[in-house]
Amino acid sequence: MPGSWLHLSGRFFGSLAARDLDRSEIELLDGVLSKAEFDLFMLQPPLDRRHGFEAARYAMSAGAPDAVVRAAALHDVAKRHAQLGIPGRVVASVCIKLGLGVSGRFRTYRDHGPIGALELAEAGSPAIAVDYARSHHAGRPAAVSVEIWELLNAADAASERSQSVRPDR
Ligand SMILES: [Fe+2]
Ligand SMILES: [Fe+2]
Repeated sequence: MPGSWLHLSGRFFGSLAARDLDRSEIELLDGVLSKAEFDLFMLQPPLDRRHGFEAARYAMSAGAPDAVVRAAALHDVAKRHAQLGIPGRVVASVCIKLGLGVSGRFRTYRDHGPIGALELAEAGSPAIAVDYARSHHAGRPAAVSVEIWELLNAADAASERSQSVRPDR
């Protein structure tokens, strides 16, 4: 448990340093996301935009097809609905990790995967983007191959490392 707390404090201080996307980074995303996806992506706060971008960049570097890059970019798109700042996210993460019942914005934070999946389905995103958003905290659904699942998880983890932050719980 001490490791977890250390990890969380690292998350807190790393989060403060999250840098918003610059013009060239935004253009890169604009080139791969649909208009509806891009609009959704840009509704996120800078911390989540950075996280999605770094995950997408990892997937691109790994030679993933566009649909998988879009899945990486958008998997946390619904975190914004929780409207939690960094301290709130840390507390929510601890509650979720400890298996405590959560309600209100903490519940929204916990459920950002399925909520995001609904938004992405509405935006016409490819199945892999919808499936990965829905299940990235729950486990691989049969519709997603092991190879793609592992690549997306690696993209998510690499993004967290690059931010010195784990915006995911
Ligand atoms: Fe994530
Ligand atoms: Fe997540």
